[in-house]
Amino acid sequence: MNIILVGFMGSGKTAVGLELSRITGYSFVDTDDIIVEVEGDSISSIFKKKGEKYFRELEQKVVGEIASRTDVIISTGGGVMKNTDNVKVLQNSGILIWLKTEPEIILKRTMSDGGKRPLLNVEEPLLEINKLLKNRSPLYSRADTFIDTSYITVGEAAQDICDRLALGCKSVQVKPGGVDEKEKNYEILIGRGTLHGLGARIQELRPTQVAVVSNPTVFALYGDQVESSLRAYGVKPRRIVIPDGEEYKDVFWLYKILGELLSARFDRKSLVVALGGGVIGDITGFAAAIYMRGIRCVQVPTTLLAQVDSSVGGKTGINHQLGKNMIGAFFQPSLVVMDQNVLESLPKRELRAGLAEIIKYGVIWDRELFETIEREKDDIFARGPSLDKIIVRSCQIKAEVVAEDERESGLRAILNYGHTVGHALETLTGYRRYLHGEAVAIGMCVAADLSVCLKLLGKSEADAIRGLISSYGLPVAIPEDLTPDMLIDAMALDKKTVGNILKFVLPTSIGSVRIVEGVSEFEISKTLRVSGG
Ligand SMILES: NC(=O)c1ccc[n+]([C@@H]2O[C@H](COP(=O)([O-])OP(=O)(O)OC[C@H]3O[C@@H](n4cnc5c(N)ncnc54)[C@H](O)[C@@H]3O)[C@@H](O)[C@H]2O)c1
Repeated sequence: MNIILVGFMGSGKTAVGLELSRITGYSFVDTDDIIVEVEGDSISSIFKKKGEKYFRELEQKVVGEIASRTDVIISTGGGVMKNTDNVKVLQNSGILIWLKTEPEIILKRTMSDGGKRPLLNVEEPLLEINKLLKNRSPLYSRADTFIDTSYITVGEAAQDICDRLALGCKSVQVKPGGVDEKEKNYEILIGRGTLHGLGARIQELRPTQVAVVSNPTVFALYGDQVESSLRAYGVKPRRIVIPDGEEYKDVFWLYKILGELLSARFDRKSLVVALGGGVIGDITGFAAAIYMRGIRCVQVPTTLLAQVDSSVGGKTGINHQLGKNMIGAFFQPSLVVMDQNVLESLPKRELRAGLAEIIKYGVIWDRELFETIEREKDDIFARGPSLDKIIVRSCQIKAEVVAEDERESGLRAILNYGHTVGHALETLTGYRRYLHGEAVAIGMCVAADLSVCLKLLGKSEADAIRGLISSYGLPVAIPEDLTPDMLIDAMALDKKTVGNILKFVLPTSIGSVRIVEGVSEFEISKTLRVSGG
C-alpha cells in the first residue's frame, strides 16, 4: 500500500514521512522535492517566475507518476488536494492521512525554517495561515483519516500511523495457482494488533459498502474493535450476526446473509468481512462467491484453525443434510487479516485443535517446523511468540501449496493428511464428539501407522509423530466403539473419495508425504486395529 501524507505546510509531512520510511523500509518521496529537481529551481522561485498555475500543472504530473509506484510514502505539497483529479489518483493508490496542525504551531514551525514558504511571505502570516487553512481544510478532510501533529513528536506521529495501518505486522503473499496477477493475488497480514489496521486496509480496497458477518460469541469479543476501526476510515459497516455453531453453516443462514446484502443494496463493488472461526469464514466466503456472481471478501480469522488453515486458500462452502461441506466454491479472499491477540480468548480445546493442523504442516512439509513445535511447547501453549512464529510458517506453507495447486488437482491434496480417517471419525460420531482438529490428530496417527505397515516410514518416525500429537493433549487412538469396518465404509462415502478408490496421504519421513491409492482393505483394517479400533 502507498501511504499518502497530506496537510498544510509545517504539519510535519516530510519529517513524519522520513521517519515512517526509516521504520517500515518503504521509500519516501516528496512531491515538492521532485518538482525542485525537475525544474532545477526552488518552489518560491518557480512561483515567482512562472506563477502558481504553472506550478500546479507540474505538480499534477508529478502526483500521477508517483501514484503509479507501490509501497511508497508520499509527502504531498500543501496544495495537492486542491485538485480533485489529484485526490482521485491518490485514493486509488493508497491510504491518505491528513496531518492536522493548529495555526499557531504551523506559524512557529514555518518561521523556524527561514521563511522558505512563498505563500507566507506576507505581513500577517498567521492571518494568512488561518485564511488558507479555512479554504483547504475541507479539501484535506477528503483524506481517509487524520492525526493531529500539533503536540506530538515526529516519532510519535510515525508510530501512530504504523499502528493504525498495522505496518509492523508480517505479510505473506498468496498467488493462487502461481498466477502473478494483481486481481488474484492477496496478502495475509499477521501480527499482534493487526485488527487496528483493518479499517485502513479495507478502505484501501475502496468498497462501496461493507458488511461484517460474525456470530454472537466472536462479535461480543471483537465486534466493537472491528467496527470502530472501520468507522475511523469513514466506513459504516452493516452488521450480520448468525448463530454460533457448525449446524448453522447451512443454506438457511446463507440465504439470510444474501438477503441482508440484497436488502441493503450491496453492489458488485461492496465487500464482506468474515469475523470468526472456520464456520463464519466458510459461509461468508461462499456468500461472497455467489452474491452477484462474486463480491470481495476479507477474512478475519479468530480461531487458530481458521488462522492457519481455513481462511487461506479459498475453499468456501456450507453443509448439506446429506454431507459436510458438500456445497461450495473455490473463491479466494481479497485480504486476510489475522491478529494473534484474539487467540487469548480462545478456549484451550480449540487452541489444541488448531495446533493439530500446524503439526500437520510439520509432517507433510517442514521438519524444522515439526521440531520447533516439539521444542517450544511451553511457549506455544502459553500463546507466546513461538505460537506467532509457527502461525506465520503455517501460512507460508499453505500459500506455497496453494500457489502450486489452487483447486486440489494435485499437490494440494497433501493438506488432507490425517483427513481420510479424520472425516470418517467426524461422520460416525455425528460431529459431536471431536473437534475437526482432534479427529485429524487421530487420523494423522493412523496414517503414520499405515505408512509403517506399507514400509514407507520408519517406526521411530511414526512414534515421533504420535508422541508430538499426544504431548499437545490431542487424542491419538481410534475409540473402541468404532470398528475398522465402520470406518472403512465411512471413508468410502467421503466426498474426497473418487470412484470408490481410497486415497491416503502417507508420511515417508517427517517433512514429506506421498499420496497413495489402492491400499488394500486388509492393510487398512490391520492398521486400524493397531491404532485402537
Ligand atoms: N475452508 C477450509 O479450507 C477449511 C479448512 C478446515 C476447516 N474448515 C471448516 O472450519 C470449520 C471449523 O472451524 P473452527 O474450528 O474455527 O470452528 P468455529 O468457527 O466453530 O469456532 C469454534 C468456536 O470458537 C469460537 N470462537 C471463535 N473465535 C474465538 C475467539 N477468538 N475467542 C473465543 N471464542 C472464539 C466460535 O464462536 C466457536 O464457538 C468447520 O466448518 C470446517 O469445515 C474449513
